Amino acid sequence: ATHKLLLLPGDGIGPEIMPEVKKIIAWFNARGTDTFETEEGLVGGCAYDAHGQSISEGDMAKAMAADAVIFGAVGGPKWDKVPYEVRPEAGLLRLRKDMQLFANLRPAICYPALAGASSLKREVIEGLDILILRELTGGVYFGEPKTITDLGNGQKRAIDTQVYDTYEIERIAKAAFELARTRKGKVTSMEKRNVMKSGVLWNEVVTATHKNGYEDVQLEHMLADAGGMQLVRWPKQFDVIVTDNLFGDMLSDVAAMLTGSLGMLPSASLGAPDATTGKRKALYEPVHGSAPDIAGTGAANPIAMIASFAMALRYSFEKVAEADMLDKAIANALDKGLRTRDIASEGTTVIGTSAMGDAIVAE
Ligand code: NAI
Ligand code: MG
Repeated sequence: ATHKLLLLPGDGIGPEIMPEVKKIIAWFNARGTDTFETEEGLVGGCAYDAHGQSISEGDMAKAMAADAVIFGAVGGPKWDKVPYEVRPEAGLLRLRKDMQLFANLRPAICYPALAGASSLKREVIEGLDILILRELTGGVYFGEPKTITDLGNGQKRAIDTQVYDTYEIERIAKAAFELARTRKGKVTSMEKRNVMKSGVLWNEVVTATHKNGYEDVQLEHMLADAGGMQLVRWPKQFDVIVTDNLFGDMLSDVAAMLTGSLGMLPSASLGAPDATTGKRKALYEPVHGSAPDIAGTGAANPIAMIASFAMALRYSFEKVAEADMLDKAIANALDKGLRTRDIASEGTTVIGTSAMGDAIVAE
């Protein structure tokens, strides 16, 4: 099959780690079972420098037409003073909005070679492989009213509003069940139904969606605060955790740090399945930013970027064996003691961005 990819390297280390994904793509193309056609575009500060927009209409159209967007990182001190509407992050927000990427996937995986480097006990995280699914376009970050009012007596009142409609919960629940089917078959839904009406509805809709064609997947419910505790106490009890925008923001950052470096963490953002083709719009990106402090030194860790492409294989192209193979190649390179500077420890061999990409291709 032929798959269309739009590569958006962005700023800072983005253009340094994207070439390492291109090596992986070239390997798959040479193998011949699948063909990945790539186009490249500009996003973030580099796009602003080129044409005064954080993403051009032309590149937006390419993103909408692509089977998947592979995104590097945007931003940097150079663009701290550009107008708010065209700041580098606006390009990413525009992509998320126009592509309607409501499901944010944040895996927390512990590579065996790095288990000893975590601040948690080895037995707690060794072999960890969980996925946090965060609702990304609703909830308290976007709900109206959203105001600060002067009450006139030296007091102000801030209001944020948590809003969820049935359809928003239903589509993220479906995504959770479908993802769980490609993994260990278990979903844990987290909300606070004990104190929030949105939690009551969330629980109700997730339960109803489960009964409607997903009963092969195991479903459990957990209050989000207790879930946070369990996530640190014994994270291996989870497979897919599905939760709202606010809880998901926090829980995914906590889960991320179970396993260590920012340079290791991939993510994906998915839209709804197309009514005729069933394919979801999708954007894959490392969790980290543009790392301006190390940009240009050749020291950036390309693993988060490469693992993001593995997620594209898994979730956009149903290439599960290939995704497993790429994840295993990363693990093997680490097993050999190869490290970029950010994950180096005693007795390991420090190599640069390009050498790490080559090592993973070789594996
Ligand atoms: P950052 O993630 O860029 O860097 C934080 C620290 O982690 C730095 O010390 C950096 O050197 C290190 N680091 C990050 N990725 C690494 C990698 N692949 N290999 C080795 N070391 C790595 O976050 P920071 O410094 O807060 O933000 C820098 C810029 O990136 C800002 O302009 C920010 O707005 C932007 N940003 C962009 C994001 C995106 O494009 N999605 C996400 C987060 C921040
Ligand atoms: Mg966050």
